[in-house]
Amino acid sequence: MTHQANPTVFEKTTESRVSVILLAAGKGSRMHSNTPKQFLELAGKPLLFYPLFTLEQSPLVDEVILVTGEDTVSFCRESLVEAYGFQKVKAIVPGGAERYQSVYQGLLAVQNLSKLHSHVVLIHDGARPFLTEEILSRVWEATLQYQAAIAAVPSKDTVKLMDARGFIAETPCRSQVWNAQTPQGFLFPVIMEAFQNLMEEEEKGNSLFVTDDAAVVELMGHCPVKLVEGSYENIKVTTPEDLFTAARILEKQEKRLF
Ligand code: CTP
Ligand code: MG
Repeated sequence: MTHQANPTVFEKTTESRVSVILLAAGKGSRMHSNTPKQFLELAGKPLLFYPLFTLEQSPLVDEVILVTGEDTVSFCRESLVEAYGFQKVKAIVPGGAERYQSVYQGLLAVQNLSKLHSHVVLIHDGARPFLTEEILSRVWEATLQYQAAIAAVPSKDTVKLMDARGFIAETPCRSQVWNAQTPQGFLFPVIMEAFQNLMEEEEKGNSLFVTDDAAVVELMGHCPVKLVEGSYENIKVTTPEDLFTAARILEKQEKRLF
């Protein structure tokens, strides 16, 4: 009889408690709509309903911290959390002007809520309605294994880096280019330390160009970040045409379910 190595099995324990920071404090300037895109309707429900629903259903997720604009906290509480009975939303906190400032407010809320536990934090864009249990679970497992992991997909297009005059400066090898998505997962101390370093840089008046959380760990942390498979359907609704794509993906997913 041959002996096979046991596959790594990740079990949920108090140590692997999972908090999700769900980001919904953006203005959606590229959507050109008066309503922030996370509240635009998709099949009769606000876009933000969809990731909230997946997180509520997920056996992995213990708590959700919803970060939104100061002026939309009560809308989120009444029209989403209370209206649909989302029990896992433990705090709704106002975000900041930049995405990383909103994430930092979410991290402070996680710290306040879960003082006694060391755990995993998953950060997800509220503008990505098609989060699935499979993606959550791949990111969670890789986070336990590597301390930091993000969902991503191989780039379909060849990517060009542009110089200051608008000419191509470099063409990275396409097989090494991935498009970052969310969720992005981290052990709490890893992401908190990186963000505290980032906030110190901000206080010194240094300009910060970070558009995702992995970049904060890459620049300010001490831990390589693992890429795991996201999904081409896990789109971020950013410009008006993305709403049509989102409606088509939803139709397709509903056909799969029923
Ligand atoms: N986000 C946030 N706080 C900010 C900026 C963004 O919580 N200050 C959230 C958005 O609500 C969104 C996610 O981060 O769910 C991804 O950001 P992005 O797609 O850039 O959204 P917006 O910043 O709202 O859009 P735009 O950049 O077009 O203005
Ligand atoms: Mg933005």
